[in-house]
Amino acid sequence: MMSHEIRQKFLDFFVSKDHAILKSAPIVPENDASVLFNIAGMQPLIPYLLGEPHPQGKRLANLQKCIRTIDIEEVGDSRHLTFFEMMGNWSLGDYFKKEAIEWSYELLTDKDIGFGLDPNRLYVTCFEGDIDAPKDEESAKIWENILKKNNISTNRIFFLPKKNNWWSAGDNGPCGPDTEMFYDITGKHTEGLDKEEYIKLDERGELVEIWNDVFMEYLKKDGKIISKLQNKNVDTGSGFERIVMMVQGVNSVYETDIFKPALDKIVSLTKKNINIAAFEIARSSRVIADHVRTAVIMLSDGVIFSNTDQGYILRRLIRRALRHADVLGLPENSLYVIADIFTDYYKDVYDNVAKQKETIKVFINGEEKKFRKALIQGIKEFNKIVTYNKEHNTEMIDSQKVFTLFESYGFPIEMIEELASEHKLKINKDEFDQLFKIHQENSRAGALIKFKGGLAGDGIMEVKYHTATHLLHQALRTVLGESVQQKGSNITTERLRFDFAFDRKMTDEEKVKVETIVNEKISEALPMNMVTLPKDEAIASGALHFFADKYGDMVNVYYIGENLEDAFSKEFCGGPHVKNTSELGHFKIAKEEAVSQGVRRIKAVLE
Ligand code: ALA
Repeated sequence: MMSHEIRQKFLDFFVSKDHAILKSAPIVPENDASVLFNIAGMQPLIPYLLGEPHPQGKRLANLQKCIRTIDIEEVGDSRHLTFFEMMGNWSLGDYFKKEAIEWSYELLTDKDIGFGLDPNRLYVTCFEGDIDAPKDEESAKIWENILKKNNISTNRIFFLPKKNNWWSAGDNGPCGPDTEMFYDITGKHTEGLDKEEYIKLDERGELVEIWNDVFMEYLKKDGKIISKLQNKNVDTGSGFERIVMMVQGVNSVYETDIFKPALDKIVSLTKKNINIAAFEIARSSRVIADHVRTAVIMLSDGVIFSNTDQGYILRRLIRRALRHADVLGLPENSLYVIADIFTDYYKDVYDNVAKQKETIKVFINGEEKKFRKALIQGIKEFNKIVTYNKEHNTEMIDSQKVFTLFESYGFPIEMIEELASEHKLKINKDEFDQLFKIHQENSRAGALIKFKGGLAGDGIMEVKYHTATHLLHQALRTVLGESVQQKGSNITTERLRFDFAFDRKMTDEEKVKVETIVNEKISEALPMNMVTLPKDEAIASGALHFFADKYGDMVNVYYIGENLEDAFSKEFCGGPHVKNTSELGHFKIAKEEAVSQGVRRIKAVLE
């Protein structure tokens, strides 16, 4: 089965179980400052897992674009990827454990409507219970019944603690116990295992996690479980690339048809008779393929190269890929050739990949040029540091100098680390991280830490800022004209940030006008309302919708005012919002500045 067939099979399966198929949300979450990228299929669905009705119903499924770079150093082995697609199905207060588990089993093992994996190689784990929630006997029983019915030994169900069998996207938000499915990639352990053997094989990577069914019925706040959710929900996640690897019976995600064409190309471009070990060649090829693929997805979703936030991750990926391209002796401007292969693979899956094909090429080539230029200067600078350190007989490179290499010469931190170690020098990573944090905007401080995962969730300040963003958006359109379009939005507990298309600096007078309008609407104590409408009707109502692509047939429109017709503000949106504008306090613009040609940025606070 080719990967695109596997993708379709997953979707068809859940359509046959009455699920609505959602489009993947863009890779950069909106209105959730806690992560730079979506890290799980559930992330864009958080408001609905918290109880808000979803316009497409209670049974949902999709493949969601996800990026996790916490393991970036591991990329190059057979399994780690920075970008992956997560297949998931959701029940929002509809079905629960029985259906979720039975369908997981059916899809994994059925030879006709499923992936046809060998059920004798399947292992499962369930939550063993603690003070927050009881032992999940129910899931284990469901598994036992399924296995018995199929004449498969039941020595393959293990209870494990929260560390293994509990899932949440961070310290705040929906969470719950889960049951995880593992596949024996060796094919040797078909008779079942005892728990100790199971743990050993898992650690050795002979058992690979292929699916996770989370039973979300709890709410976490600041790391503690504080209550039950309004609904009992199901949130499942299965790594598409891993499933493809299992179904195609290969030992590495890089041997699947998702990666094979790109890797073949890299091999053909690699300098002949290159004098490095075969495993190094394999590793560098994989790093290039992984990083370029992730860059294609980021660029297609509008991320641009920069020294902060998402743009910095993109820069790190491409510059790291370039370093490895140099290791292999690839000709200059090879990366975009690889990018093109991935663009072809994803063009029928994600509309914007096809649309952005040329832009992706131009950006990748542009970044390569910039990097090569910076490299020549930066290496000179680096050599000065080496001389200085040798003269002063010191191993540790001054952190300020490390930071200059990063900031002024665009050297990614892992590259500085590699260069340093080639010269038997060291850098102080903690100090660098400190400087990096200061360098990020105040509010984004700690972005790299947050990047490990987490979720802004429904913090009260963030909800207030979200509603204030809608007011600001409309106020800007009132003062500056309808050409004002949202280009980005980002919220923390301390401020809102709003990017919009506008071609000049705002005057002081305009800023005061905008503030006055927002504060008037706050003092009018207007209600925030929501209606679910068919997309066409929602558009006809005049609701703003700058990312219309990502919505399904039914959409939620949030409007500020008594009724939709004459509401002050109407927008397609996933919430959450305050109930009444009177909750917001006093609104003040803290800064108005340019982000790029034709795009302005406002930072504003509620006092
Ligand atoms: N949200 C769950 C995960 O990512 C399904 O594993």
